[in-house]
Amino acid sequence: MIVLAGARVRLRPLRSEEFDMLRSARERADATVSPGSFGDDELRERIEQSGTLTGWGLALAIEADGDLVGHIQAYRAQLPRGVFGIGIELFDPDHRGKGYGTEAMAMLVRHLFDREEARRVEGGTTPDNAAMRRVFERLGFVEEGVQRQFLPAADGGGADCVMYGMTRNDYEGVKDQWTRTS
Ligand SMILES: CC(C)(COP(=O)(O)OP(=O)(O)OC[C@H]1O[C@@H](n2cnc3c(N)ncnc32)[C@H](O)[C@@H]1OP(=O)(O)O)[C@@H](O)C(=O)NCCC(=O)NCCS
Repeated sequence: MIVLAGARVRLRPLRSEEFDMLRSARERADATVSPGSFGDDELRERIEQSGTLTGWGLALAIEADGDLVGHIQAYRAQLPRGVFGIGIELFDPDHRGKGYGTEAMAMLVRHLFDREEARRVEGGTTPDNAAMRRVFERLGFVEEGVQRQFLPAADGGGADCVMYGMTRNDYEGVKDQWTRTS
């Protein structure tokens, strides 16, 4: 089981009793934040497998001061070997803007490069998601372009996605500057 402990944040497996909370968060989330559409059975399976890197990827809870505040995933299905995509969500707006997102991302990215033989880690968000873009930039991800209309939007249409990537070389160059975040 993968558990990662940082200065303020702990990443640990999701628990079966957290199903309802995760399901309501999924229902509330903007379509661009939770672009994959999957049902309750798949959510249950994700929770059961949480903490283990599967063919799909790795899902972990984000805990701060002992409370569940969000979840983070590294997915690798349909990506070349050695490439991981990252998704993150803090459930409650009151928990955002406190540095938890940056710390959680740094911890998972470090794990992927140091322990899971990642060659590249990537992620993307809508152009107006200033907090997510700032997390990527602060950690040293490189902005790589815009995938037009890539994300499903709430109105049933599409939304542009700004892509960010970090190669192993990038990581080696920035990881020692992450002392504030881990
Ligand atoms: C995106 C998210 C994970 C970022 O995590 P966070 O803990 O809120 O972010 P942090 O507190 O670590 O802040 C990171 C940076 O963004 C800045 N920031 C935070 N909220 C911001 C906002 N609303 N507008 C502009 N900048 C913001 C912070 O000042 C910080 O920048 P700095 O290091 O230069 O000071 C979190 O806000 C969230 O879950 N949002 C909703 C779901 C979502 O959008 N997920 C991503 C989908 S792709």
